[in-house]
Amino acid sequence: MSTAPLDLAQRFGTPLYVYDLALVRRQARALRAALPYEPLQLLYAIKANPCPAVVKVLIDEGFGIDAVSPGEVAMALRCGCPAERVLYTENNATDDDLQAALEVGVLVTCGSLDRLRRLGELGGREAAVRINPDVGAAEHAHTLTAGPLTKFGIHHSQTAAIASIEADTGIRVIGAHMHIGSNVLEADKFVAAMEVILGVAKELKHLRFIDFGGGLGVPYREDQAALDLSTLGAQAESLMRSFCAGYGRKLELRLEPGRFLVAESGQLLTSVAAVKTNPDGRCFVGTDTGFNHLIRPCMYGSYHPIANLSSTAAPKVVDVVGNVCESGDVFARDRAIAEPKLGDVLAIGFAGAYGMSMASTYNLRPLPAEVVVDGDTVAVARQRKTTDDLIAQWEW
Ligand SMILES: Cc1ncc(COP(=O)(O)O)c(C=O)c1O
Repeated sequence: MSTAPLDLAQRFGTPLYVYDLALVRRQARALRAALPYEPLQLLYAIKANPCPAVVKVLIDEGFGIDAVSPGEVAMALRCGCPAERVLYTENNATDDDLQAALEVGVLVTCGSLDRLRRLGELGGREAAVRINPDVGAAEHAHTLTAGPLTKFGIHHSQTAAIASIEADTGIRVIGAHMHIGSNVLEADKFVAAMEVILGVAKELKHLRFIDFGGGLGVPYREDQAALDLSTLGAQAESLMRSFCAGYGRKLELRLEPGRFLVAESGQLLTSVAAVKTNPDGRCFVGTDTGFNHLIRPCMYGSYHPIANLSSTAAPKVVDVVGNVCESGDVFARDRAIAEPKLGDVLAIGFAGAYGMSMASTYNLRPLPAEVVVDGDTVAVARQRKTTDDLIAQWEW
């Protein structure tokens, strides 16, 4: 059975997400190989792509799961991740959310002193804390998760209160955590934040692990340099080694990337539905998908490579746009691709992270189907929904 994207588009229709599990494994192994520090526990930030086939590959590779909601916790457990390898990095969790985590026995990383105290009052005996190191990095302000404007984490200057919460409620903080932003391609940005976290960690008496978060970037643009993983791994090792020597015992190192593991594995296949050239020469190539299925270009101004799988024609500079009723529904402006004709299949690359997981049914367009390719096998991971399915969601 052919696994060629063009054949998959013909067989399953478009718009279609396709994930190549071999690329997920490749990324998982590259990351592990770059991290010499032991003990090491890698987690996968499941928000990037919760497709069970993808998640199971990473669990089989030894990853735990970083989750941000009770739904993600449930998905992690359903995919077979043991509860002790699931970390619930809460954000403004309700008491019910915390209670649900306690019931299934997953550790919660508290992002505020308030939630830490509440978890202790609800009977939580162990927790981790997310620290805002005030040093952040990201491709866009919306994905910057450290610094003065972020809602995430306990400011690093306010961590003295943790000890009194421990004393008052009996909870023990066993993990110090940070996550500074997403799609970071410079190792030194992580290192600056790691130093702040380790400065705070010295004062926490019951630690078993340090979690340096996710955010590891990938080169979406053809001319971008990849993150220097070996430098990052060596720096993390040396910081952890000297920290643990001073702390008096060896702590586990954790990282929890999402994008790095799955971005490249995914493509969004879409068909050209209309082609239009304005009097000024601007050519709009309209597709059968939109920001409802891949919001990153619209929301973050993100670049995704786009190829015309159906054509070897000479490149033409076009705007690739979606079918959503918004002017911001643009995948690429002034992009040179083999001249698209009606019905051609375009592949929007590096769409495996924060693609389908952020998709919506805006404009009452059904979600795309998802298929996974593993070597020469192809499996449907999620069936395409229909307009009838959408309408049936309401009470009639
Ligand atoms: C707490 C936490 N950990 C990990 C991640 C994963 O980030 P990335 O996909 O950039 O690696 C995120 C993303 O938002 C996050 O909020």
